[in-house]
Amino acid sequence: MPAHVACVMDGNGRWAAQRGLPRTEGHIAGEEALFKVVNGALEVGLRWFTVYAFSTENWRRPPDEVRFLMNFNETLLARRRDELNRRGVRIRFAGRTDRRIPRRVQRAMDEATALTESNRTMTLTLAFNYGGRAEIVDAVRAIVRDEVPAARVNERTIGSHLYYPDMPDPDLVIRSSGEHRLSNFFLWELAYSELMFSPRYWPDFSSADLYEAIIEYQRRSRRYGGV
Ligand code: FPP
Repeated sequence: MPAHVACVMDGNGRWAAQRGLPRTEGHIAGEEALFKVVNGALEVGLRWFTVYAFSTENWRRPPDEVRFLMNFNETLLARRRDELNRRGVRIRFAGRTDRRIPRRVQRAMDEATALTESNRTMTLTLAFNYGGRAEIVDAVRAIVRDEVPAARVNERTIGSHLYYPDMPDPDLVIRSSGEHRLSNFFLWELAYSELMFSPRYWPDFSSADLYEAIIEYQRRSRRYGGV
């Protein structure tokens, strides 16, 4: 079993466009898919599951969609937080705090994090206002602030200054919707991850697709540069 699976939930907008619906309907359908997949992940005993929910570049999307996604984050927590808590899920957010995140939304994120802090069945990390390059910049800033001498900086130093030093690197990354790129997701952490690309738009992604990806992962041989 992979210890950590991460998903780039891509294709909500195109799923909606295909049906003549506004993009926001795609995000609503994407939320349903997300929680089905989270249930699937819990059922197979996955310990770490991360989804890319909003990137540092997604502020460039139309203002209406950005506003929707910000508020949607709060709605999503209001709807799912207690159930996730009951099931032993620790909820975390990885990303930059930002004044553009409405205060109410930030509060809901902080409350969900605090409420579920001691859960250990699975850690669900939402990468929100997350950018891989921004995370590396933030790590470098923290190292400079800690006055670490240049000669003592190594990979472990960087790793221990990332947003969640205790998070294992993803073993498997799945991007939906047929796009074959990382789009600034976990650039440091994905150095040796297995990558998979599903042609399905995210709202059509299911636990069965997750299981298929895990089975494919189990067939792969990871060498980490060795033989
Ligand atoms: C990266 O592609 C994809 C993401 C950062 C995920 C975006 C997903 C959402 C906004 C939907 C959130 C999901 C739910 C369930 C509400 P990109 O589009 O940022 O980058 P690209 O331009 O390189 O494709």
